[in-house]
This record gives sequence, C-alpha cells and structure tokens, in this order.
Amino acid sequence: MIYSRIIGTGSYLPEKVVTNADLEKMVDTNDEWIYARSGIRERRIAGEDEFTCDLAVQAAQNAIQAAGIRNDGIDLIIVATTTADQVFPSTACLVQQRLGISGPPAFDVQAVCAGFLFAIDIADKFIRSGSARTALVIGAETFSRIIDWTDRRTCVLFGDGAGAVILGADREPGILSTHLHSDGKYKDLLCVPTGVSRNYERVKAGTAYTTMEGGEVFRWAVTAMSDIIDETLDANHFDRNDLDWLIPHQANIRIINAVGRRAAIPPEKVIVTVDRHGNTSAASVPLALDESVRSGRISTGQHVLIEGFGGGFTWGSALIRM
Ligand code: ACO
Repeated sequence: MIYSRIIGTGSYLPEKVVTNADLEKMVDTNDEWIYARSGIRERRIAGEDEFTCDLAVQAAQNAIQAAGIRNDGIDLIIVATTTADQVFPSTACLVQQRLGISGPPAFDVQAVCAGFLFAIDIADKFIRSGSARTALVIGAETFSRIIDWTDRRTCVLFGDGAGAVILGADREPGILSTHLHSDGKYKDLLCVPTGVSRNYERVKAGTAYTTMEGGEVFRWAVTAMSDIIDETLDANHFDRNDLDWLIPHQANIRIINAVGRRAAIPPEKVIVTVDRHGNTSAASVPLALDESVRSGRISTGQHVLIEGFGGGFTWGSALIRM
C-alpha cells in the first residue's frame, strides 16, 4: 500500500500588523469587545502590491526547504483559496510558474475556510492512487480584499496569510483518514454574493464584500466541527485520549472553546493562533500547523486532528500521524 505523509510544513504572514487599537480608529469598536467576542488581538494584512500568490509562494518555499526536496520533485500543486489573484489562470498555476515547475497538474480548490481540508483530501487520494508522489498543498488568502472595512461586524474578524505542506508517498500512513461535507442550503448565511457571472458591477465598484449571519454561523460551526471530531475518531477506532493535538479552524476563540468542550478535548491539546492571526480562512489550519511544528509543540509520531468549517457550508477534517 502507498500512503501520504507530511514531510515538510511552511507558512508566511504579511509584515503589516493591524491591532484592535488600529481598528478603533477605523470603525466604532474597541479592543475589549473584539477580544471578548472573538479572542482576536491583532491580524496581518497584505500590502497593496502583495497578492495571494506572493503569500503562497513564500509559504511553499518554506515547506519545500523543510522537506529537503527540490522544486522539480513536486508533481502536484493544489492551492486552497477564496481570494485568487486572477479569475484565471488559477493561483496554483501562478505559484507553479514562480517555482519554476513545468508539467504536473496545478489547480485551485474553493471551499472557503474548509479549503485546506478539501485540498489535503484530494492530494492524499492522488498519492494513494499512484498519480503523484510529492504534492505541494497550500492554503493562502488575502481575505482583507473581500471585507468591508467600514462594517464593524465583519472587519474585526479576518486576516491574511498562507500555510503549506509537502505530502510525500510512503509505505507508512501519515494521513490516516480524511472526511469532507458540504450543505449548500446554507449558502446565504456566509457569502460574498458577487462574482464574475453575478452582480459583477459590485466587483467593478470595489464593493464585493463578505456578509455573514454571525450567530447562525457560530452555532453551525460548533456543531459541525465537534461532530466531525467524533466521525474522524470513530473511523480510525481512536479514543479521544489517543489524540495529541487538535487544530481547529481559527475563526473565533469562543467557537474553538465550545468545540473543545463538546468534543471533550482538553484546552491544553488545542492549538490556538486566532489571537495573533485572526481568521485567515483556508490558510488558518496550515498556518497553525506550521507554527506548532516549528515551535516544537507538534513532533514526529504524534497524532493531530485538523478540521475546518466555512461558507457553503463546507466542513472537513483529517487525522494525521506526523
Ligand atoms: N465592536 C463593537 N460592537 C459590535 C461589533 C464590533 N466590532 N460588532 C457588532 N457589535 C455590536 C452589534 O451591533 C450588537 O449591538 P446591538 O445589540 O446594539 O445591535 C452587539 O455588538 C452584539 O452583536 P452580536 O452580533 O449579537 O454579537 P455576538 O456575540 O453574536 O458576536 C460575532 C458577533 C463575533 C460575529 C459572533 O457571532 C461570531 O463569532 N460568529 C461566528 C462568525 C465567524 O466566526 N465567522 C467567521 C467566518 S466563518 C468561519 O470561518 C467558520
């Protein structure tokens, strides 16, 4: 049997830090409200001339270096993003060109904040089927570009960044299982109701912004992300005590804490970066993973459950042996 394993991780955050105090100067809000309701203190925002592809390439280069491979050893590139540089070509093709790779398939996956989980699932299946041996999987976002910076209900929650992993073929399993779900009937609860084919005038006017029913999204995120922990553990005949770490999508500390409580995972096993990154959508999980690997919290042989939840709704998880 062939399995996929994570052989390197990387990430990148734009230099510009926007604190809650900075937001106080832009909208009617304050640090106390933002921190109490979301757990966020600050977030990174991409520069005007910095695009999703730029963030993705930096994260990819860090992951490639950590894996100790050459760029031409990569035979699959998947970028999970909601904020592609261009309508086409895909951001993955732009990354491919910047890395000097020619030939292997490169494509984007769009599942909003669960996008990295969808991308990992696909890459794992490519490797297990023998269609690829070394995959570059990236979650990268400049979510700040689809936020209304005059809307205090949404602008305080999001940030920009990128995370990446290299998956390599191995005789020993690293990705133990993946689980994906979607339910399009909730499409209006969290969305940018604008695109190329619909309401394009808003894109031209620069008002293609994220809208959200915060309370509904909150409830759904908690239910879906705690239920999928059970689904993942059951599929692997794992007890929750067998888990070393949980990396949930970093949207809001209250969602993360509620998921941990419902799933009976102790807080000391739950990775949290939302305080410094905000919600970076598809980048949040690989960013948190890379940070935890580089700081030495997550180490080889440990079992990590990663999970995401986003607009659609979409949600997914993976159980990983590092
Ligand atoms: N600063 C100050 N006051 C604010 C702000 C702000 N930034 N935003 C809203 N308020 C006010 C509201 O206007 C409201 O005032 P009112 O009662 O006078 O009308 C009051 O605060 C309470 O607002 P609620 O929306 O009820 O606040 P709630 O406790 O629900 O928190 C929040 C809002 C943080 C958005 C919460 O619902 C939430 O986290 N939802 C999850 C959404 C999420 O994380 N989405 C991310 C994308 S989805 C994903 O990635 C999973």
